[in-house]
Amino acid sequence: MEPTKLTRRTLLASAALPAALNADTARPAVLGGEPVRKQPWASWPVWDESDKAGIVEVLDSGHWGRTTGKRVGQWEEKYAALTGAKHCLATANGTSALICAMNALDIGPGDEVILPPYTFVATLNVILLQHALPVFVDSDIETFQIDARKIEARITPNTRAIVPVHLGGAAADLDTILDIGKRRKLPIVEDACQAHLGEWRGRKVGSLGDCGTFSFQASKNLNSGEGGALITSNETLFDRAYAFHGNGRARRGGTMTLAGYALNGANLRLTEFQGSLLTTQMRRLESQSKRRDDNAAYLASLLEKIPGIRPQKLYPGCTRNAWHLFMMRYDPQGFGRLSRAAFLKAMSAEGIPASSGYSPLNKESFLDKVLSSRHYKRVFGEAALKRWREQNLCPQNDKLCSEAVWFTQNMLIGPRSDMDQIVSAIQKIRASAADISKTA
Ligand SMILES: Cc1ncc(COP(=O)(O)O)c(C=O)c1O
Repeated sequence: MEPTKLTRRTLLASAALPAALNADTARPAVLGGEPVRKQPWASWPVWDESDKAGIVEVLDSGHWGRTTGKRVGQWEEKYAALTGAKHCLATANGTSALICAMNALDIGPGDEVILPPYTFVATLNVILLQHALPVFVDSDIETFQIDARKIEARITPNTRAIVPVHLGGAAADLDTILDIGKRRKLPIVEDACQAHLGEWRGRKVGSLGDCGTFSFQASKNLNSGEGGALITSNETLFDRAYAFHGNGRARRGGTMTLAGYALNGANLRLTEFQGSLLTTQMRRLESQSKRRDDNAAYLASLLEKIPGIRPQKLYPGCTRNAWHLFMMRYDPQGFGRLSRAAFLKAMSAEGIPASSGYSPLNKESFLDKVLSSRHYKRVFGEAALKRWREQNLCPQNDKLCSEAVWFTQNMLIGPRSDMDQIVSAIQKIRASAADISKTA
């Protein structure tokens, strides 16, 4: 396809934007012009005296861990109620919540687990920690999520679980995935680590599968520095996850019994300080999420008019996007062949930080090393691992990784004029794409 010739007229016609935003004559900052934005973005995290008071109260109480304190347990009840799940287990981080899920489901050597290639590395690592085989299903390039239509073809007699990720805060296609899980009798572990308050058909994500996991790491929309949670309405799964997170000790009446062990385990407990912080931080979650939703909808409505920019699409069942990330695809053809790297550099010069997102997880060299280890060879055998390599193809995801551009959630909690600045910067860069290309 020939690149679009960019003139003032085509630019105005293609993106019917407010006149003030059509700053196409202004020189891009990367070429020495004035940046669109000079002030910092909304800072993250957000806290006030109530967060401080809660932490000091924990300090003064002397009950700093959940074995004697009550904060973590009380927060678990609140988060279960918020998500609509029967149970919530607080964990040290989102990775620990996924580890609890893997162990509660008895995933182990010789098993296969299905996951998307477009996700944070932890989704993969927890499968490898069990010495199970990760089976990648290609991405749906329009939505950035696992392509649910391609899952069944990758199921084998060794498949033990499916781990869809609600990437960026938008839901994966849960209608299709839950149906596959039901028909094929495979548990669904929703990795909702980026999707606090996200919804599928009006129900909170994480509560629809057999269990769901969340992260409260510092960048997340709900943040306690580090932290995580597993939610489930399955009593047996909850008991096993609970025991696993507390060195194998069983749950009795809301806390752990010190009499004997239900199974093997680790210490993946959350501290009372974090329990307190999550309680106070959660009071802001709804209003912050609403602000992100309003800003993101406005931003997407402007960006979709710009040739070469394709905001992430949502499945119709995704009734609420948590907007941990605002994701879009960048096509150099719409920008006079300006490369994505040069576009990102020009955005940064305008004071608009944007990232290129994930690289293909299924092609990571560390993964190849793990699968070549003596452990994997002994468990799966050379022939099965060769077959895995032959089938480990995710061409749509490769393309997605080469086109993605992300903005982070804190950029969505400021005033609406912040969104206008993002659009102005993109328009400005687009209008001078040919000049920028020459210097890139
Ligand atoms: C999709 C996904 N899964 C799992 C995790 C792991 O969570 P944590 O960093 O809290 O261990 C993250 C965190 O970034 C994530 O984004």
